[in-house]
Amino acid sequence: MITHLNLPDIIIAVDGFSATGKSTFAKLVAKEFGFLYLDSGALYRGVTLFAQEQGLIEGTDRIDTERLYPMLGDLDLHFRADGLYMGERCIEKEIRSLKVSSSVSPIAVLARVREWVDGRLHEYGRRGRVIMDGRDIGTAVFPDAQLKIFMVADENVRAGRRYDEMVAKGENPTMEDVLKNLRERDYIDSHRETNPLRQAPDAYVLDNSDMTLHEETVWFRGLVQGKFGILC
Ligand code: DC
Repeated sequence: MITHLNLPDIIIAVDGFSATGKSTFAKLVAKEFGFLYLDSGALYRGVTLFAQEQGLIEGTDRIDTERLYPMLGDLDLHFRADGLYMGERCIEKEIRSLKVSSSVSPIAVLARVREWVDGRLHEYGRRGRVIMDGRDIGTAVFPDAQLKIFMVADENVRAGRRYDEMVAKGENPTMEDVLKNLRERDYIDSHRETNPLRQAPDAYVLDNSDMTLHEETVWFRGLVQGKFGILC
């Protein structure tokens, strides 16, 4: 039997710009320490897919909020072991499509949508022993999280990672386009009115520009040892 005794039932918040490796790091910590991993961006993507399927998004960014907001009350998005579900349907793959990616930022700026997502995240957070990644987890969703990590990486390293991901999916981007898209998303994430991406004052910065995943876990173990005084 696997026991995960060495970390208390805390909430760990992992925030940062896109393509800094938040989800890879958070999933690994979840696995090693027996935490539930929650990808808050997946919920914004799920709302975006829902709005697209209901015909509430015209072009990429004209959203019929008058119709969308009342529908949120009945929207059933939840996590299972294999990813995000809408009712009984696994939507993990669809929410990663280019179509969803291109409209998720305008959805994520809507304060009412952010409130709805935060409500869902709080339901999961009540269980404790959760690691969540996103943009505003440590600053707005769980400002009292016992451990906050802010991930950064060199812009060119991030663009390279995103480029490799896209090529692996069979897409054919130019490095220039990838860098442009990354900068646009950084701008939107850090300049929106409601809960923009910010480093929480009590967050520990993890710059993984030149780190392997193994080095990241060594860093994390050192952090936990120092902060909670436990060996793991
Ligand atoms: O992490 P991601 O790329 O899957 O996130 C999708 C979008 O959701 C992205 O535009 C940023 C936004 N987001 C957010 O505003 N707040 C969060 N806590 C998580 C994601």
